[in-house]
Amino acid sequence: MRIVSGIQPTGNLHLGNYLGAIRNWVRMQDEMEDGQQALFFLADLHAISQPHTPADLHKGTLEMAAALVACGIDPKRSILFNQAQVPQHAELQWLLNGTARMGWLNRMTQWKDKAGKNREGQSVALFAYPVLQAADVLLYQATHVPVGEDQKQHLELARDIAQKFNNDFASEDTPVFTLPEPIVPPEAARIMSLRNGAAKMSKSDPSDMSRINLADDPDEVMKKIKKAKTDPEPLPSEAAGLKDRAEALNLVTIYAALTDRSVEDVLREHGGTGFGAFKPALGELLVETLRPISQRFTELLEDREALDAILAQGAAKAREIAVPTLDAAYRALGLVRG
Ligand code: TRP
Repeated sequence: MRIVSGIQPTGNLHLGNYLGAIRNWVRMQDEMEDGQQALFFLADLHAISQPHTPADLHKGTLEMAAALVACGIDPKRSILFNQAQVPQHAELQWLLNGTARMGWLNRMTQWKDKAGKNREGQSVALFAYPVLQAADVLLYQATHVPVGEDQKQHLELARDIAQKFNNDFASEDTPVFTLPEPIVPPEAARIMSLRNGAAKMSKSDPSDMSRINLADDPDEVMKKIKKAKTDPEPLPSEAAGLKDRAEALNLVTIYAALTDRSVEDVLREHGGTGFGAFKPALGELLVETLRPISQRFTELLEDREALDAILAQGAAKAREIAVPTLDAAYRALGLVRG
């Protein structure tokens, strides 16, 4: 079993990022047995498919790497790297561009959503994005790829590309690529803004009070929770009672995610409690959970050498695994290389 997954680097990491993909990766890593392997990478090459600011991409990549380590990705157990240090991703993508069909890419819903009415104005990279994603996983003979529901279609495409390449260029008993399976984790908690229960917690919300940042200190965390928007009613004892109370639901959802319980279960215990008591309890819990994470996060960001070394070592390990597959792909295509 080899797990491979990528995440687009963004800066200003917050609680929503942690309780979403990041915590899921950490769990997968922690559940891994001997002989299994996990590669986690920052999809920085994907990030240039849309307009971007180089300085932000650079900073965001380092921040995301620091956050992953701070949240529990252990570079000794998992291979952690950024794509840009493993040129085999881009090389394999080019080889796979010969196999991927325009029609397949045209059907990708993410392409349609992101391009909108202005397809002609999009970069070639945005269109070819799923081919790079296929290269990301095929390069390592991934057997399992943890992804969100929205990425399942891209994984299907990776399988189609692998299958067609194997059919067209490899003999049946020695396929070049393994067909990867998506693993869609049980629905991650949707963490909403602390100021508006209808909007997702986001790094781009102009109000810093709307989110808990991984770098926030305990006082800030407490203050943000105490000021979080709510309503005057006490908590109900069943989830149905949170209907039309988006802000209240959000705070209970955060509490449930942090304690690994269901919303129902939290309400069974806290039903009847007012926010005057629930908020401090939630604040404490958050502070305790985030304390070690934000400490490590800040330390790593201040120690560029350590962070660079983690990514360089991860990239070296990744390249080692990647090279034989890339060589096999070149060979299968009849390309002459010295
Ligand atoms: N496209 C993915 C996303 O936006 C990120 C990603 C890039 C990825 N390459 C990948 C995920 C390979 C899994 C495997 O979330």
